[in-house]
Amino acid sequence: MPYRVAVCASGGGSNLQALLDRLGSGAPAMIVLVLSDRRNARALERARAAGVAAEVLADPSDPAEWTRRMGQHRVDLVVLAGFLKLVPAAVVEAYAGRMINIHPALLPHFGGSGMYGRRVHEAVLASGATESGATVHLVDEAFDHGAVLAQVRVAVEPDDTPETLAARVLQQEHLLLPAVVVAAARAGHPVPVVAPLNPQS
Ligand code: GRF
Repeated sequence: MPYRVAVCASGGGSNLQALLDRLGSGAPAMIVLVLSDRRNARALERARAAGVAAEVLADPSDPAEWTRRMGQHRVDLVVLAGFLKLVPAAVVEAYAGRMINIHPALLPHFGGSGMYGRRVHEAVLASGATESGATVHLVDEAFDHGAVLAQVRVAVEPDDTPETLAARVLQQEHLLLPAVVVAAARAGHPVPVVAPLNPQS
């Protein structure tokens, strides 16, 4: 029985697409639900195109709505991939050890409330850091705070802009996130720590 995964996304959903592409038939996990807080999120279109249930949260702050929707689809693992709202504490608790998030920097640095999208990469460049990367971590009640499960490192180039750095990090996110989801499906929960995945080393 494949592991049943829900993906929550507010925007473009390229990480969702990487998961859909990796988790084809025969994979140990399958996406059974895509949830968004935004009706016009491209992630919802990607889900529908793949024949996956695509649902909009009427009230993202209502834990009962979350648990009802996830229960209907018998979700084993929740993946936050570009989901910009804080998940209600009761939902985080109900899925403790079974809810993960991907962040486009090397946590614990450059994370937390307000650190998303272009702002993350601007902050990395402003700091003078010579490397950045992506992190997959367990979700707890604070933004970008739970235990780190896997990271991938990416060099910061001297002529990087927030856009070029974001693109290089995103490419690696598309490998990192499916790797963690497959490892989770094989191991069951809590989601295991995944050995460093670093194409540059
Ligand atoms: C990614 O950079 C992810 O790390 C962050 O939000 C972005 C989502 O991108 N949490 P996409 O919607 O998957 O393209």
